[in-house]
Amino acid sequence: MDRSGQKSMTGKFIVFEGADGCGKTTQLRRFYDWLQAKTFPLNGNPWPEPSQIWLTKEPGATSLGKTLRQILLTPTDTDDGVLPTTELLLYAADRAQHVQQVLKPKLLQGHWIVCDRHVDSTVAYQGFGRGLDRALIENLNSIATAGLVSNLTLWLDLPLELSQARRAHRGEADRMEQLDIAFHRRVYEGFASLAAQYPERIVRVDANGSENEVAERIQTIVIERFFSE
Ligand code: TMP
Repeated sequence: MDRSGQKSMTGKFIVFEGADGCGKTTQLRRFYDWLQAKTFPLNGNPWPEPSQIWLTKEPGATSLGKTLRQILLTPTDTDDGVLPTTELLLYAADRAQHVQQVLKPKLLQGHWIVCDRHVDSTVAYQGFGRGLDRALIENLNSIATAGLVSNLTLWLDLPLELSQARRAHRGEADRMEQLDIAFHRRVYEGFASLAAQYPERIVRVDANGSENEVAERIQTIVIERFFSE
């Protein structure tokens, strides 16, 4: 049995979480390349084969998910485009499809999954951000994941002012990014609260620093978690 209590999942499920503009996608890609580049065992622990390491994301990893992502993130002119409860259900639908079609099959085959966002984003954005009922969200998350829990979730913690500035620098904002600063502050508080609630599963990464510094912090955490003696 591994630390997440999953008996038969021989692979590792690593999730990157954080606010829009925190550097998550850049760091996830760097981490994936770093994992791919090594092959030797460390402290007697085998390193995954390059063909057994998968980069994926929520929303939008499956064919259905790609359509859902477009609906979820395309800005609309009117307020009645996607209502908050509908939004919650669509993220859950994307996750259910992703878990069944990609995550569980790959983990059962012993693959390592590096995933851009998962259940904590729903708690942070739809729960803390939108103010939707936490118990309902937990319920939907548990239906969508069917018992799957990450082995490690890395929360890239960047002060809100910095993440908002980085995001603005990237150009046009998507439907979620367009929400006001108060919404994004609540989302930030949501991630902080989740990290405090689940210290075993969620590890905070100081995302303030150069790309190299943050990448090294992430590598150190992963080596400690999966490759220490
Ligand atoms: P990203 O792929 O660029 O991170 O964009 C995904 C957006 O969707 C981001 O603003 C966070 C948001 N999101 C939610 O609101 N709830 C969720 O459950 C997930 C997975 C993402």
